[in-house]
Amino acid sequence: EHPEDDGARRILLAGPRSFCAGVERAIEIVERALRSHTSPVYVRKQIVHNAYVVDDLARKGAVFVEELDEVPDGATVVFSAHGVSPAVREEAAGRGLDVIDGTCPLVTKVHAKARRFAARGDTVVLIGHAGHEEVEGTLGEAPDSIVLVDTLDDVRDLDLPDPERVSYLTQTTLAVDETAAAVDALRQKFPMLQEQSSDDICYATTNRQNALNAIIGEADLVLVVGSTNSSNSVRLVELSRRQGTPAQLIDRATDIRPEWLEGVRTVGLTAGASAPPALVTEVVEALAALGPVTVEEREVTRETTHFGLPVVRGAAAAKSA
Ligand code: F3S
Repeated sequence: EHPEDDGARRILLAGPRSFCAGVERAIEIVERALRSHTSPVYVRKQIVHNAYVVDDLARKGAVFVEELDEVPDGATVVFSAHGVSPAVREEAAGRGLDVIDGTCPLVTKVHAKARRFAARGDTVVLIGHAGHEEVEGTLGEAPDSIVLVDTLDDVRDLDLPDPERVSYLTQTTLAVDETAAAVDALRQKFPMLQEQSSDDICYATTNRQNALNAIIGEADLVLVVGSTNSSNSVRLVELSRRQGTPAQLIDRATDIRPEWLEGVRTVGLTAGASAPPALVTEVVEALAALGPVTVEEREVTRETTHFGLPVVRGAAAAKSA
């Protein structure tokens, strides 16, 4: 044992943390489908970007696939919380698949805006991370009218056909501060930027960043529970590091390395919107097993957002009736 390590530790819990309404809804959609279907339930892509959630649903019978060509004709398929492009919807319809849409309603809103802005003749600048599933889905709404920018440099390099007709949208899980900087840069470059343009960072992403901001200053180390492909979780790690507090992204308590904790008196603990609350409890218990801990929660706001489930039609409805 390290002599400096046998003292008590404090765990500062950021609130809100962990599951958002969109993730809860997407998981519930898969669980309901599994309960009401006797035939296999396919899920296109990870339903939410969390390894534990995906493993858990796979154990309960969900079949995760990357693309629709892995789904037999006529089978039931769930679209993930990140949304899909219209091309995927059309393919599913053409193949007679029984689609249950797990897309977060806040992502669906961004898709609707992308269509509206493109239809009025704008070039739509989408601020987001290349390759992320949500970004791919949104780009697909108007592939000829949307340009993706990932960094401030991308904004500087933008060369648009009609600088008077430009609007912007954002991915829902970006860093609030970085996105504001990108929007400022965009506005400087295109002063005619359309009014209804919007920062679409969702309430859950914003709240988790605000909650972490409220504890970063007191923490010697920040632990973020989340998977490496979870955009909003990675943003939390970056936020902490930008402010000078070491931070680590962990899937499970077993990922914690003893050397991270050397000399650490206060651990800031949070979780991305796709990480289950039980995994946060697991981390608290793992830290408590190393020595005495006190746990304090700082809740900056209380979330009451809840999304209803989609109406189930056809075979699924008949079976669950
Ligand atoms: Fe939706 Fe935001 Fe969660 S877009 S899935 S509420 S992180």
